[in-house]
Amino acid sequence: MSQTELSRRQFMQTAAATACACALCGVSSASASEKVPTTPLDAGKPDDFANDGVYDQFAKSRHILIVRHDNKLYAPTAVCTHKHCVVRAKDQVIVCPCHNSRYDVDGVPTRGPARKPLVRYSIRIQDGRIIIDPTQTFDPSKWNEPLAFITL
Ligand code: FES
Repeated sequence: MSQTELSRRQFMQTAAATACACALCGVSSASASEKVPTTPLDAGKPDDFANDGVYDQFAKSRHILIVRHDNKLYAPTAVCTHKHCVVRAKDQVIVCPCHNSRYDVDGVPTRGPARKPLVRYSIRIQDGRIIIDPTQTFDPSKWNEPLAFITL
């Protein structure tokens, strides 16, 4: 076996091991643009989010969070603004497993290294269902716009 073949084999083994490790811990090395959802999500009924808190059941599959807070529902991205890992809900806050950033329920970072807030996706009720449209985003200056939240 040549040195080149050995190096290639070692590279592939290392790459496969890294991919498996990342998959197991929920960390992905995909770029931010690969994590931007492009199709609308039917997230269910408002009653499915009956209690205040952060809901992350769509975080891994669609990179979308749903938050109920102060009689409002809104849909922040589940992609950390630091290096684009997928965040999750923990004890009523949003945490990033990669470098331990934390965000409050509004999606504003309370502990770094993340420094930028999580953008929110368009959210509306249609035929009794919550529809989230990730093609329209709202930065913090637009969080009070009509499609940035649902009033319950
Ligand atoms: S990617 Fe989230 S804290 Fe670094």
